Formats: sequence, C-alpha cells, structure tokens
Amino acid sequence: MVNTQTGEDFHIRLEDAQALDRDCTTLSRHVLQQLQSFSPDAQDISALMTRIALAGKLIARRLTRAGLVENALGFTGTVNVQGESVKKMDIYANDVFISVFKQSGLVCRLASEEMEKPYYIPENCPIGRYTLLYDPLDGSSNLDTNLNVGSIFSIRQQEGNDEDGSAKDLLQSGRKQIAAGYILYGPSTMLVYSIGTGVHAFTLDPSLGEFILANENIKTPAHGPIYSVNEGNFWQWDDSMRDYIRYVHRHDGYTARYGGALVGDFHRILYQGGVFLYPGTVKKAEGKLRLLYESAPMAYLIEQAGGRASTGTQEILDVVPEELHQRTPLIIGSTEDVTLVESFIKEQARISNQK
Ligand code: AHG
Ligand code: MN
Ligand code: MN
Repeated sequence: MVNTQTGEDFHIRLEDAQALDRDCTTLSRHVLQQLQSFSPDAQDISALMTRIALAGKLIARRLTRAGLVENALGFTGTVNVQGESVKKMDIYANDVFISVFKQSGLVCRLASEEMEKPYYIPENCPIGRYTLLYDPLDGSSNLDTNLNVGSIFSIRQQEGNDEDGSAKDLLQSGRKQIAAGYILYGPSTMLVYSIGTGVHAFTLDPSLGEFILANENIKTPAHGPIYSVNEGNFWQWDDSMRDYIRYVHRHDGYTARYGGALVGDFHRILYQGGVFLYPGTVKKAEGKLRLLYESAPMAYLIEQAGGRASTGTQEILDVVPEELHQRTPLIIGSTEDVTLVESFIKEQARISNQK
C-alpha cells in the first residue's frame, strides 16, 4: 500500500517495524511474555533467567579469551565427586553461578556436578524459594581443542532443607522442574530455555550484551537422520545397543554426528531430529550422564519440543533419583527414533526372559 501524499510504501515500513521488534525481544522480556503476568512469581522466574544469562555471558567471555590469558585452561590437579579430573574452567564456571546468585534473594541452594553437597547461600534463604541444579561446564574435554562446550541448568521450587547435605528433598522426579535449559558456547553463544511453554532459543549479541530471540517454539521432527553416540564403547554395550547400531549401519538415511559435549550434540538433534544415546555398558549399567543436572533438564526440553527422553525402559522425567549425583542411561531426541531404540531393548529383554 502506498501513501498517496508521501509516496512511501507502508509494507516496507511495517516490515522494518517487525524487524526492529524482533531485534528487541530480549530474554527477560520473552520470559515475562511467556508467563503473561507481572506477578511476584513471574518476576522471580524472569530474574532467575536473567541471572543465568549473566553467568552464561561471564563464562562465554572467559572462554573467548581462554587461550590468551594465564591459568584459564588445563587441569586443577584435583578430582571431583564423580571421580573425574577437574579443569580450571570447570571451577571458574561453577563459581560464576554461585557468585551471580549471591545476594539475589532468589536461590537458597545450588547443586552442581562439581560440588559433593548442595551449596547454601544463607543470606538468600529467608526468601529464596528456588533451587538451582547445574552442570557448570559440560563437555569440558573439548576445552583444550577450542571446541564447543555448554552449561546446563534446572530450576526447582525449594522444598524443605536437608541440613545433613544429602538433600533428600531434592530427590524427586524431573517432573518437578519448573524451568530448564542450557547455554551453548559455540561459534556464537546461545541460550535455550523452557518454563513449560515450549522451547525458545536466544543468541548472544556481544555488542549489546543481550541474548536476542532466535527461534521460538522449537519443534523437534518426529524422525531425523542423526544418531549421536560414542561408538568407541561398542564392545562394552549389551546386544540391544549393538543391534541398534548395526541396524542404522544397514539402513539408508542415517548419519553419525558426535561432538563429545552433550549440549552441542543435543542442540543439533533438537533442531534437526534424530537421537542422542549414552547407554549403560555391561560393567556400568547406569551409563555416564547425571540425572539431576544433565539428563533431566534435557528431557524437560525435548518433551517441550515434542520429542522423548528415555532410560531405555522408563521416561527420564519419571525417574526418581536415590542420590544427588545419580547417573542414568540416556536415549533422547525424536519420538520415532527413541521408540525404535527402545524396541531393540524390549526385544533383547524378551530373548533373555526366554533363556
Ligand atoms: P562433563 O564434561 O560435564 O563431565 O560431561 C561430559 C559428558 C557429556 O557432555 C558428553 O556427552 C559425554 O560426557 C561424552 O562422554 P565420552 O567422552 O565418554 O563420549
Ligand atoms: Mn556434563
Ligand atoms: Mn561438567
């Protein structure tokens, strides 16, 4: 439509306005839009997400310069509660999450891969109504080669206070999560989150220091071509997993992608479909990934995107942990692909029962 007096094209101006509006959708505004409320609860969730975003920006900034500054890369020489060698960036990222939540009045307790027991911020506890569970730096073996890593987070309503540190009140299923997401430190930094109203992705604009909306309501295809698994473990798996891998080798339409960082591997599957697997092995039936701050938040996201997450025999979100750092096998991604993997596990169980 053309303005007869000025000759201007209104369509172009409208598109400009929409482009500007899109550029202005920051994370905090988006969270409030999703909650459709300015209630104290909504303000809290928005503030929580803003703090997590700040942690992401601080970690991203450190990672960008890690090869240039002293003492950023390499090992600390210590071993964490998981028995894994700790890297300096693991500790830096862990401390960043603690420091951004100090004096926030939001989070009384944080639980992380790098801390044996939950960490309390006493000054927040009188009013802090939430618990943050997190993997401060996921895929840290990728650090030394400048490949993608991530941070994973999960927010729960705080229930009770487990003073002996074993945090029994935290040992509830993933259905108790009220928000979850991750930050991917790749060629650009992205934050992906859900508060139960779909999955939304943001890209960090470093010049603004803001996460700007990139994709809203991401839906994972019902089936995808990618299978993502560490095939180096092939001979440590039981027959069901080996049979599934033999199946994809013998059928057209599959392609392997594995980056060694769950956040990156999951991100690709969230957008393009397929399946990520970290199954148990014959010797370690529970696999490698931790339920509360790796598998459960990713399961929350994939269900919100229309996909599935399974241990092989149970939905990940239904698993009730017995300990804070509990591990679970993880099969996550497109509904049809997860179900196909499960069918191999069921078939194996049937054969075993016949013996
Ligand atoms: P983290 O660095 O937090 O310990 O997690 C590493 C995890 C996960 O990111 C990845 O999917 C998996 O370990 C890779 O394990 P493998 O090296 O055994 O394939
Ligand atoms: Mn991890
Ligand atoms: Mn980690």
